[in-house]
This record gives sequence, structure tokens and C-alpha cells, in this order.
Amino acid sequence: MIEVKENISLKALNTFGLDVKARYLASLHQADDLMPLLNRFRHVPVLFLGEGSNVLFLEDFEGLVILNRLEGEIEILDQQEESIHIAVPGGMHWHDVVNHTVERGWQGIETLALIPGKAGTAPFQNIGAYGSELADVLTACHVIDTETGQNMRLTKDQCGFGYRDSLFKRRPGRYFIHRLELRLFPGRAPQVRYRALENYLNDQGITRPDIKDVFRAVVEIRRAKLPDPAVTGNAGSFFKNPVVGREHYDRLAQAYPGLPAYPAGNDRIKIPAGWLIDRAGWKGFREGDAGVHPKQALVLVNYGNATGFQIYKLAQRIMADVFDRYGISLEPEVRIIRNAAKQNR
Ligand code: FAD
Ligand code: EPU
Repeated sequence: MIEVKENISLKALNTFGLDVKARYLASLHQADDLMPLLNRFRHVPVLFLGEGSNVLFLEDFEGLVILNRLEGEIEILDQQEESIHIAVPGGMHWHDVVNHTVERGWQGIETLALIPGKAGTAPFQNIGAYGSELADVLTACHVIDTETGQNMRLTKDQCGFGYRDSLFKRRPGRYFIHRLELRLFPGRAPQVRYRALENYLNDQGITRPDIKDVFRAVVEIRRAKLPDPAVTGNAGSFFKNPVVGREHYDRLAQAYPGLPAYPAGNDRIKIPAGWLIDRAGWKGFREGDAGVHPKQALVLVNYGNATGFQIYKLAQRIMADVFDRYGISLEPEVRIIRNAAKQNR
């Protein structure tokens, strides 16, 4: 039977470094152990946790936190001349998966280097960076439906992926993801589709990059721009980039020349929230230990002893200001965790 600890600090288990406690905490090493564990704890709320790099705890968690510590190695399911189909255990650190594939010359996830978290969490918000996202290569997710106890293989279409979105994010707690299938491309040249990455490679004199060049460039850009959670608490981008209609964009672009824009299909335009927040003067703002990162306005930080509520309050002030200035409602990307009974508080 899995050992369950009581009243355990989660400070080292969330990258904001928030000093909250879990009423119960268990580590899951085998997916088959999940349902027996859940059946013992039907009376309390449950939270799956990977590396805690995309959560903001507002208070102690009065339920069971289940840490994904699944074991296993990458397996090759099928290999053709131009593509390779692999299975990835959910407990692997995502960056180790990227390393493994880049070392073997398998193209597909090299721009997703250095994203913190577990492989099993990657589909939750369809992680993305520097021109690609998980859904570009994922073919299936193996999950346990916690309502029925069924083990299911969901195809990519069934996962309902969108920008930083999925079926799993819309139904948190319903499906436990324990294994991914990815299709990658041995020997294929990378496509560079992100301006900052292209500029970086050009500045290095690399005009025909291979996947190792792209991997290294992404790692270097990220290290220069994003705070290391081991030094300064954060959860990456706090908000999603908003998507607006053409008219709204045109009005804003007139008022704010230089407003960046990325086509998002159907005559809709994605605007970098970091630009809006930066332009509103929040970059580098600090109140107590809660702040806005001085190099990336989309990243909220904990300089040491901020509480989840202080960071959340700052997020709300930024959201209100962005709405007043630009008529845009920002949506947090980070999952805000509070006790179920207080959800509407
Ligand atoms: P956690 O924070 O532990 O969990 C996140 C959510 O997933 C929670 O709601 C949790 O309940 C749920 N969950 C966890 N495991 C499972 C499971 N097995 N089954 C079902 N649900 C589960 N994200 C990007 O997309 N792109 C980036 O470039 C990026 N850069 C980042 C940079 C930094 C410095 C940081 C700190 C974060 C960044 N992120 C980025 C966000 C984060 O890395 C990803 O969201 C990552 O996938 C979270 O993984 P985790 O294991 O830490 O998830
Ligand atoms: N910008 C500013 N000021 C800032 C930050 C950004 O003007 O303080 C401008 C930049 O100059 C650029 C634009 O905003 O023109 C975009 O900036 P950046 O390339 O840094 O990307 P982002 O939109 O801020 C997104 C993702 C990141 C991902 C990067 C690279 C979201 C919410 N965030 O950030 O993902 O790593 O692109 O692809 O989509 C995360 O999800 O946690 C995350 C870090």
C-alpha cells in the first residue's frame, strides 16, 4: 500500500516556492497504484502534481496531493525510414525527453527544450515554445479516467488541444496522464518559425541550423530571459497571450504603434501579453516579495517570502489595468489552487 504522509510542506514542490502544506501527500511510482489510492481518499479533494511549475497555491491544500513519480524509460514503438514513434513514461522530466531525442537526431521537440515539468503534465496545457507545441508531435495520451477507473488511450484529436489548452485542463482531476506517444522525424531539418530564434541563429552566423543548433539556441535564449526557479520563484508566463478580433487589433495598433501581432487563424490575432504589461509600466514592479520580472513582464515572481495571495493580488491589479488600457481580459495560464469549498470566495 502506498505510504501517505500528513501535513507536509510543499515549498520544495512548487516553483513559486510557496510555503503551503498538503494535508496528505503520496508519491505514485506505478500508474496501477492510482485507483486503490484514490479509493482510500474518496472523501477529500485530490490534486495531481508533477514538478509544480505551473501552479499557484493560495493556501494550504486540505486534501491529497499525488506526486507523479512514475518510473520507466522511453520505448520505440515503431520506426520507419522517415519517422519514429515512441512512448514516453509520464514521470520523466520533460527536458530529459528533449535531450534524449535531440541526441539521437530525432526532429520534433527541439524547440521545447528547458521547459520545466514532467512529461505526463506536458499535454495538460499543450506546452509550447519557439514555434512549436506538443500537439504537433503527440499522437496519443494514455490516461486513467478517475471517475470510472478505466485505462484509456486517447488519440490526439480526443485530447482537444488548443493554445495552452486541452481536455485535461478543462476537466482538471478527471484524467491522470501516465504515458505519451510521440511521432518524431530522424534526420529531418528543423523549421525555424519564431522571429527571436531566427534572429539569434542569424547573429551566430548559423544559416542552415540542425536540431542541435536550434536546441542550443533555445536553451541560451531561455536562460537569458527567464528567471531560474531555483533562484527566484516563478511559474513561467503567468498569463496566456490574448487573442483578439481584427477590428480590436487595428484600433489598438493605431493607439500603440509597434504593437506586435501573430496571426491566430480566422482573422484573429494573438498579442503578446508581455508587451501589453511592459508598456503599461509593470515590468520590474515589486511590492514586498511579489513582483514582475525585470526582463520578462509576463512572468510574476516570488523574491522569497511572498504568499500565493500576494502574487494573486498583483496578478489581479495587472489584469484590471490591462483591461482599462486596452479592453483586453487577460486569462491566467497558471492553475490557481484553492480549496474547493472556497472556490467562489
Ligand atoms: P504542475 O505544475 O505540477 O501541474 C500543472 C497542472 O497539471 C496542475 O493542474 C496539475 O494538477 C496537472 N497535472 C499534473 N500532472 C498531471 C497528470 N499526470 N495528469 C493530469 N493532470 C496533471 N510552459 C510552456 O508551455 N512553455 C514554456 O515555454 C514554459 N516555460 C516555463 C518556464 C519556467 C521558468 C517555468 C517555471 C514554467 C514554464 N512553463 C512553460 C510552464 C510549465 O513548465 C508547464 O506548464 C509544465 O508542463 C508544467 O509541468 P509540471 O509537471 O511542473 O506541472
Ligand atoms: N515583450 C515585451 N516585453 C516583455 C516581454 C515580451 O515587449 O517584457 C514582447 C517581446 O519583445 C516580443 C513579444 O512580447 O515581441 C513576445 O515575447 P517572447 O518571445 O518572450 O514570448 P512570450 O509571448 O512572452 C511565449 C510563451 C512562453 C514561451 C515563449 C517562446 C505564452 C503565454 N508564453 O511568451 O511560454 O516560452 O513564447 O515561445 O504563450 C509559458 O507558457 O510559461 C512560457 C514561458
